[in-house]
Amino acid sequence: MIIAETAAEVRSRVAEWKKEGLTVGLVPTMGYLHEGHASLITRAAGMCDRVVASVFVNPTQFGPGEDLETYPRDFERDCAVLEVHGCDLVFHPDVSELYPEGAATFVEILSDMPKQLCGKTRPIHFRGVCTVVCKLFNIVTPDRAFFGQKDAQQLAVIRRMVRDLCFDIEIVGCPIVRESDGLALSSRNVYLSPEERRAALVLSRAVDLGKRFYAEGETDAGRVVRAMSELISREPLAKIDYVSAVDGETMMPVEELTPGVLVAMAVYIGTTRLIDNFTVGE
Ligand code: PAJ
Repeated sequence: MIIAETAAEVRSRVAEWKKEGLTVGLVPTMGYLHEGHASLITRAAGMCDRVVASVFVNPTQFGPGEDLETYPRDFERDCAVLEVHGCDLVFHPDVSELYPEGAATFVEILSDMPKQLCGKTRPIHFRGVCTVVCKLFNIVTPDRAFFGQKDAQQLAVIRRMVRDLCFDIEIVGCPIVRESDGLALSSRNVYLSPEERRAALVLSRAVDLGKRFYAEGETDAGRVVRAMSELISREPLAKIDYVSAVDGETMMPVEELTPGVLVAMAVYIGTTRLIDNFTVGE
């Protein structure tokens, strides 16, 4: 596996592959990889001739007071995980490589979409995500890029950006990978104490409850969201940021659960903010 720290090296490797007629998949990550990330690499390796992963903790998507400085990092271990799952090249740039001195250009969706759900407490988050993913798309020029359904709003935002900016890149959404007890894998799970780790199960339990309501015929979004919220509120260590049912593409609130509707939540367990979701009918 090639480790590249500069955009120039990535460009020249990808150019060689493209000359040979090979297809290229991109998996953007912030590192501290787990089985969720690994599933994206595996999927990319199954669908593309060559796989590029990026490991870059992107400063512009963290707000003031968020965990940019303490975000967990272990690049050596990440490389081992990437290699065994079939990654051909890892792009591990310095901040100055993606944000040269004086960088002042951002990519921002100006509709209400990035202001919903996570955008309410993280107002600059999706602007940072779009900006860095746009840079990665320009450097790697992949045929396909792979994103997890775990970050459902991020996936919808990226799809929208790709459409609006005419990128010729297929966006592939991949299912949420969970621990055996249901907790969605996240790099931030390492912040949880043993007691919080147990309490964090309320998120996946709420997902299961919502799915069960729908399976039993309940289509009133308000009733389902209320039942999920009540379940979460019974956990003393949990504090709800939001539980919402929204249109799967626009992220705008809906009143009825129909196939494609996203039911998403963000919940603080202690000081750690965790997210989970399900898509109706999937
Ligand atoms: P990060 O949180 O490292 O996640 C990288 C990718 O892995 C995202 O597409 C995310 O949805 C996916 N992922 C994380 N946990 C998952 C799980 N349990 N199951 C399936 N997929 C999972 O998301 C980011 O980084 C950044 O915002 C990034 C897109 C790299 C831009 O900086």
